[in-house]
Order: sequence, then C-alpha cells, then structure tokens
Amino acid sequence: MKILVTGGAGFIASHVVDQYLDLGHQITVIDNLSTGQKANLNPQAKFIQCDITDKEKIQEIILSEQPEIINHHAAHIQVGYSVENPQFDAQNNILGLLNIMQAAKKAGVKKVIMASTGGAMYGNQETPFSENMKEQPLSPYGISKRAGELYLNYYHEIQQIPFIVLRYSNVYGPRQNAHGESGVIAIFLEMIGEGKQLVINGDGTHTRDYVYVSDVVKANVLALDSDFIGELNIGTQTETSTNQVFDKLVAELALDLKKEYGPERIGEQVTSSLDYSKAKEILGWEPSVGFDEGVKKTVEWFKSK
Ligand SMILES: NC(=O)c1ccc[n+]([C@@H]2O[C@H](COP(=O)([O-])OP(=O)(O)OC[C@H]3O[C@@H](n4cnc5c(N)ncnc54)[C@H](O)[C@@H]3O)[C@@H](O)[C@H]2O)c1
Repeated sequence: MKILVTGGAGFIASHVVDQYLDLGHQITVIDNLSTGQKANLNPQAKFIQCDITDKEKIQEIILSEQPEIINHHAAHIQVGYSVENPQFDAQNNILGLLNIMQAAKKAGVKKVIMASTGGAMYGNQETPFSENMKEQPLSPYGISKRAGELYLNYYHEIQQIPFIVLRYSNVYGPRQNAHGESGVIAIFLEMIGEGKQLVINGDGTHTRDYVYVSDVVKANVLALDSDFIGELNIGTQTETSTNQVFDKLVAELALDLKKEYGPERIGEQVTSSLDYSKAKEILGWEPSVGFDEGVKKTVEWFKSK
C-alpha cells in the first residue's frame, strides 16, 4: 500500500516507517525536522521536508502522492511548552491536522491512523484508564490531541474518511530523545551521558505506564487492516514509579548513583496506566516486551550511540 507517514523522522514514526517498509509498503515521509533527525530516516522511504502547518504545500504533496493511508505522527509533544504557548501547540496539532484532513478529503484517502495520548487524556481519574472514561485532558497538549480526535470523528461521520486513533501511554526505546517530557527514560539516559546528576521531580512515587516502541509499531501495523473506527488505548496496564525507573537504569548501566530529589512539578499527574483490553479485543494487540527487556534494549542502543 502507498502510505504517507507524518513525523517519520521522529522517534516513534521512524520505527513505524521501518516496519511498514519491511512489510512491502511504499512510504512517503513528511517531517519538518524540528525534533526529528535525518539519521532516523529510512533511505527506502521518500522524504519530503515540509511543515504540516503549511496548508498549500501539504495539499500539493498529498494530491500528488495520492496515499491510500495517512499515518499521522507529526506533532508538538512538549506538555510544559504547551502550557506556556498553547497557540503554538494548537497551530501544529489542530491546524496541522486540519491541513492534512482537508487534503486527504480531496485526494480520496481511504484511512487515517493518528497517534494520540492516553497519558494526557484522562486526567486524575482512577487507574487503569479505559476508553469508556470521560476524556479530561489537563494540558493544552492533551486538549489539542482530543480536539484532533473529535475532528477525525467529524471527518468520518460527515466526510466518510475512516480513522483509527491510537492513544499511547509513555513510549520508550531506541531513538527517543530527551526533549519530550513524557520520556523520563530518555531524559535520564541523556543526563547520564552528559555526566549530570539525575534529579527526580518530587518524591519519585509518581507512576507511568511505559510501553516499548516495537509494541507501539505493532499496533500501527494491525491498524492498517482493521475496519475499526475510533480510539484505542495502547499501553501495558502496568504502573512503574520514577524511583523504579531510576533503579532499573542505574542497575542496567552498573552505575553507583544516589537519588537526588527536586521540587515536585505543580499539576503533574500522580498515577497513569492504560487498560488495553479494547485494543486486544479489536486488533488482537497486546504488549509483548516487558519493562526489564525494554530497558535492556534501550540501554544497549544508548551505549552504541
Ligand atoms: N513519546 C510518547 O511517549 C508519546 C505518547 C503519546 C503520544 N505520542 C505521540 O506520538 C507522536 C510521535 O511522538 P514522538 O515521541 O515520536 O515525538 P518526536 O518529536 O520524536 O516525533 C515527532 C516528529 O514530528 C515532526 N514534527 C513536529 N512538528 C511538525 C510539523 N509542524 N510539521 C512537520 N513535522 C513535524 C518532528 O520533527 C518529529 O520528527 C506524536 O504525535 C505524539 O503526540 C507520543
């Protein structure tokens, strides 16, 4: 199939591109290289450097490429910056999506797969979060992703463009860089690499649901052939505290580091984990890489950099 992947020079989507190519699909990548890197680009994919906020260029590309499927990962992902500058976040994540969808409608695209957030979608409700719960995003980033989901519902109901939204928990693995705030593993690894003291915000008991990137890729593969329309959580339903992440990384790298605690971030979610039973029922998806194995692979990549 001909698939256009936005954000394909970034962490998650570059792995999706690799797997789609391995499966024999024809891939075009759009990326503005704001956080993505040329080194992540698979040379077998056609690369077009472009910003999704450029309405004319996006339309031109989608009309000339004529993809059957658009896999949309390009986004602004920094939650903290979205609080400081919600306009920038909305410009990329909402208006950028609308540029893609308006062009998709003209080009007769058959399906859109969009990366959304599970971690920033459900607010401070009781874990594990399921898709039946009310969406309560507490940041402009989460709101922009929810707005994107609602627009996809509109494009399906009124414009007949099918879609699948994959709501990821905290994704980790090779190629992740430290700019994203959900990436504490990448942030800790970068600080270790630079010889800096790791500082845990708060007392380190906050939990997150860490899902390894190859499992996320698997969901993007299964989504290609599914007729399902709607949102699916992609996580592990396992909570890992920041203290546990620290201990695991330090043990894996055989370092002698003591924990240092800094002030807790105001408004930060305390716990997070995603119920993935719907993805299991609908896509036959479940995570297969446990935290120990995932961290080992990530550390191996980090050492080889
Ligand atoms: N990493 C996570 O834990 C996580 C969790 C939930 C959802 N997501 C979603 O997954 C997607 C990918 O995230 P990631 O962690 O790989 O981040 P990333 O920053 O590595 O990837 C995003 C890519 O999009 C590109 N991009 C950003 N703005 C663009 C624009 N205006 N035009 C064109 N390209 C643009 C960047 O250059 C980058 O290559 C995002 O939509 C993000 O919201 C990620």
